[in-house]
Amino acid sequence: MSKTMVALDFSTRKEVYDFLSKFKEPIYVKIGMELTYAFGFEIIRKIKAMGHQIFLDLKLHDIPNTVKQAMKNLAQLEVDVVNLHCSGGSVMMKAAIEGLQEGAIDGKRPLCIGVTQLTSTSQEMMNEELLISGKVEDVVISYATLAKECGLDGVVCSVHEAKAIHQACGEKFLTVTPGIRLSSDSVDDQKRVATPAYAKEQGCDYIVVGRSITTSEDPYETYTMIENIMKEK
Ligand code: C5P
Repeated sequence: MSKTMVALDFSTRKEVYDFLSKFKEPIYVKIGMELTYAFGFEIIRKIKAMGHQIFLDLKLHDIPNTVKQAMKNLAQLEVDVVNLHCSGGSVMMKAAIEGLQEGAIDGKRPLCIGVTQLTSTSQEMMNEELLISGKVEDVVISYATLAKECGLDGVVCSVHEAKAIHQACGEKFLTVTPGIRLSSDSVDDQKRVATPAYAKEQGCDYIVVGRSITTSEDPYETYTMIENIMKEK
């Protein structure tokens, strides 16, 4: 099973299908708001029908009943992973899991992971605008612990948080980490980046990689090289 989720951050269908055609076998892709809001669920169904696994990154956050019904619909798409904002609270997170269970096809619900704090949220912004006190790292651990208690399967987190999250929530609680760069890459707009080897060392279960693969000269080769690092024993 693939450990590298490739972020399909493209703006046209053609770019998406041209990119996927470079792969000899199904891969794990991350589809976010950009593609979903442009092309609807049709593109998700098509990519699924091609055999790829899908992390549908729509970050739900609403009243519990709305999230429950929305998750029920997402489960019917048979995507593999969905997510939500943990800041929606415990009732919302539990409702999300109920919705996924109700919508599950053949009893297999998508995994559900939580966003603790966005990496775009600074310490200052969290304290002064969102009025959440304490250190970002402590809030991340506290939200992850709550997510686990609510039945979520893991969280999206930075490479640097993965170890502490596993310590607090157990090794089986999934850590899915973006912000990955090869040592030869430019960091683009990411602030704190890490290599796949470092992510592996920190115990990250899955890494989300966008531009390092999508803009590489040979995406298949780069993907395979990263996968091999992630799968090393
Ligand atoms: O191109 P790059 O590897 O930076 O893409 C990373 C992907 O992960 C993008 O789709 C981005 O939106 C997403 N992401 C992130 N940081 C987060 C959450 C999601 O970079 N904290």
